[in-house]
Amino acid sequence: MKIWVPMDSAAKALGADEVAEAITREAASRGIDAQIIRNGTRGMIWLEPLVEIDRGDGRLAYGPVGVDDVPALLDGAMDSLGPVENIPFFARQTRLTFARCGIIDPLDLDDYQAHGGLAGLRRAIAMTREDIVQQVTDSGLRGRGGAGFPTGIKWKTVMQAEAAQKYIVCNADEGDSGTFADRMIMEGDPFTLIEGMAIAGIGVGATRGYVYLRSEYPDAIKVMNAAVRIARDRGMLGQSVLGSDHEFDMQIRVGAGAYVCGEETSLLNSLEGKRGVVRAKPPLPALEGFLGKPTVVNNVISLATVPVIFERGAEHYAGLGHNKSRGTATLQIAGNVRHGGLFEAGFGITLGEVVNDIAGGTASGRPVKAVQVGGPLGAYMPVEKFDTKMGYEEFDAEGGLIGHAGLVVFDDSADMLRMARFAMEFCAVESCGKCTPCRIGAVRGVETIDRIAAGDAAAADLLTDLCETMKDGSLCALGGFTPYPVMSALRNFPDDFATQKEAAE
Ligand code: NAI
Ligand code: SF4
Repeated sequence: MKIWVPMDSAAKALGADEVAEAITREAASRGIDAQIIRNGTRGMIWLEPLVEIDRGDGRLAYGPVGVDDVPALLDGAMDSLGPVENIPFFARQTRLTFARCGIIDPLDLDDYQAHGGLAGLRRAIAMTREDIVQQVTDSGLRGRGGAGFPTGIKWKTVMQAEAAQKYIVCNADEGDSGTFADRMIMEGDPFTLIEGMAIAGIGVGATRGYVYLRSEYPDAIKVMNAAVRIARDRGMLGQSVLGSDHEFDMQIRVGAGAYVCGEETSLLNSLEGKRGVVRAKPPLPALEGFLGKPTVVNNVISLATVPVIFERGAEHYAGLGHNKSRGTATLQIAGNVRHGGLFEAGFGITLGEVVNDIAGGTASGRPVKAVQVGGPLGAYMPVEKFDTKMGYEEFDAEGGLIGHAGLVVFDDSADMLRMARFAMEFCAVESCGKCTPCRIGAVRGVETIDRIAAGDAAAADLLTDLCETMKDGSLCALGGFTPYPVMSALRNFPDDFATQKEAAE
């Protein structure tokens, strides 16, 4: 009998370790020959700990499983959810980046290969640099960290740069509220990120890579470090990648917990051992990045998507999606929802479908009021905008952004003035202090919102002016994007800014 119990940190937070121990104990006391595999999560957090058992006739899911359920689980007396693939939340997905997550043992390289792993790297090794970069360009992959910049163009810039040393840096400083896709893939399928980085290295001519991983992700750090060691021992990394004449090796570096270190230039400073402040661009990191050398800085999901593009072909990937947003979006559904978790599907699904059909509406049962899409710097989308399709340009046209594709749902008890204040306060706390609109503007922003709350009607115009200054004058996205949540709250939920309503009357 094979039994899978996730070792993903969300599942662990819900008791997966205790359940795994209880299964081990109970199986031993009954003399059952059970192989317990700690897998990644299947991404349905409301069902965690989700245990799968194969008694010889395929994997059946059970969840959420508590320690007290273990005797019944082993007796076969607990109701099964059926195969994971049949659970509606899962059945509606198109899993490419997350195809293996939750299926394999994350640190078993043979299991990884048995499920399509390394096919992409082997294909890339046989290609020229130009063809590798062209393949990524043809796939239509865009930066999944948030900015949506075409990955192929970024790689081409680095490939064409003349330098004795180039680098691949993976941005794993996933600091956006309500996002967890980077963490899930690193904990559930780490070799796919390593494979993506190796392909990137071979493509642009970089022999060294770094994953800048936030310290708040101790499990991901452990899994990634172990995976890099295994990859090196098994010839996936090193002087001769999979026996080829390409060299690529990498290390995991742990950040110290500043949100702004998710901004690429600040990240590079931190990686170099300097204070994590933003650098002015140009020069672009693609030309002068880590230690002043040409550097690809890509998000975890961008790099972890590369292997499947090479495995199945650029056309297959580009065949999914909507308009200029090709391939799949790895949506992270969180906040006040019945069914939260990781949902991967082609771009083009509407916001309303995600919130109402897939997430099942609010957990509280109250009406949805707003959805913040794209992290703490994303706009609050009202129900009236639920027809907006998931796509970079589509969200931009509605005054929002997809960002890292995190969605946080709020019911009608949310006070949007308080949410706007939180956004400004967040910016004030996390600002690196390099530029005035953000450093001073965010502090003044909190004060101005407090004035509105205290009944000063004129302060709403002042807040609008301040947001325009921050948007136009900030050096990076932290100060430049804070106006998104603030202004979307002000515009879409005027009743919560009561003085503004009174002023309008
Ligand atoms: P950006 O638009 O300035 O740059 C996008 C990327 O393209 C950068 O890597 C830049 O170096 C590169 N680039 C631009 N022109 C290029 C060229 N000609 N050749 C090669 N590379 C080129 O955006 P930025 O400031 O890097 O990111 C902002 C985004 O970050 C926002 O959309 C926000 O959603 C997201 N974000 C994500 C967070 C997370 O936790 N994942 C946290 C905070 C913000
Ligand atoms: Fe630093 Fe804020 Fe300016 Fe970005 S916008 S450079 S975080 S002060």
